[in-house]
Amino acid sequence: MTLLELESVTASYGPVQVLDGVSLSVPEGGAVGILGANGAGKTTTLRSISGTVRAGGRILFEGKDIRGKRPEQVAALGIAHVPEGRGSFGALTVRENLRVGAYLRRDRKGIAADIEFLLDLFPNLKERYKSNASALSGGEQQMLAVGRAVMAKPRLLLLDEASLGLAPSTAKVVYDAIARLRRESGIAMLVVEQNANLAFRLVDSATVLETGRSVLSGTTAELKGMDEIRRAYLGG
Ligand SMILES: Nc1ncnc2c1ncn2[C@@H]1O[C@H](COP(=O)(O)OP(=O)(O)OP(=O)(O)O)[C@@H](O)[C@H]1O
Ligand SMILES: [Mg+2]
Repeated sequence: MTLLELESVTASYGPVQVLDGVSLSVPEGGAVGILGANGAGKTTTLRSISGTVRAGGRILFEGKDIRGKRPEQVAALGIAHVPEGRGSFGALTVRENLRVGAYLRRDRKGIAADIEFLLDLFPNLKERYKSNASALSGGEQQMLAVGRAVMAKPRLLLLDEASLGLAPSTAKVVYDAIARLRRESGIAMLVVEQNANLAFRLVDSATVLETGRSVLSGTTAELKGMDEIRRAYLGG
């Protein structure tokens, strides 16, 4: 079943239109990538879903149009956004950041079990559990941002350039952990990534944005076989 469906989504910043017909769909439990160059509109697409940018077109979550809802309403429906730049609370510890992510939950045992699961998934966070987020490395901060989002028990995770600023080896560790998270939790994911090699470790299919428009989409295997994708996104 389809969990999220975008139909001809548009968005503007002031007078400047930056999305001009973005369409994609994420199946229940699936992982879909959004590829595209700098400024193509990837981040804006995620913002239009999470309600932080006003959008046109249709944005259906579990069959209902959520376009125009406020960010906290979208979050309460089960959509968690891990923004570019991560956004953890630097003055709070790893433990406190994870607990903040669970602030709407009341199932104490479930919260404890999810923290256990996340510390097993990201062993670095276990070592830094009582450290302030501001003292973490870039990779650890990315793990924490994902962890905090997962603590809300979302149905859908919106992930924006989790590899940004990380060494290639660290980025792989982060993506492989997120792939395991996906397998073991069943959380669906919409994954923005400029590095298609990384995205393809996680997603089953992807859509390519060019200047605010979906121009191409296909399964990971189909996209890997296309010359233009290889040239633009796979370094060969
Ligand atoms: N807050 C903003 N105000 C005005 N224009 C913006 C704002 N954010 C983004 N833009 C513009 O909107 C367009 C799409 O930006 P967006 O951030 O969605 O691209 P992106 O695909 O995520 O790029 P990147 O790969 O660099 O993160 C760009 O031209 C950008 O300059
Ligand atoms: Mg972006």
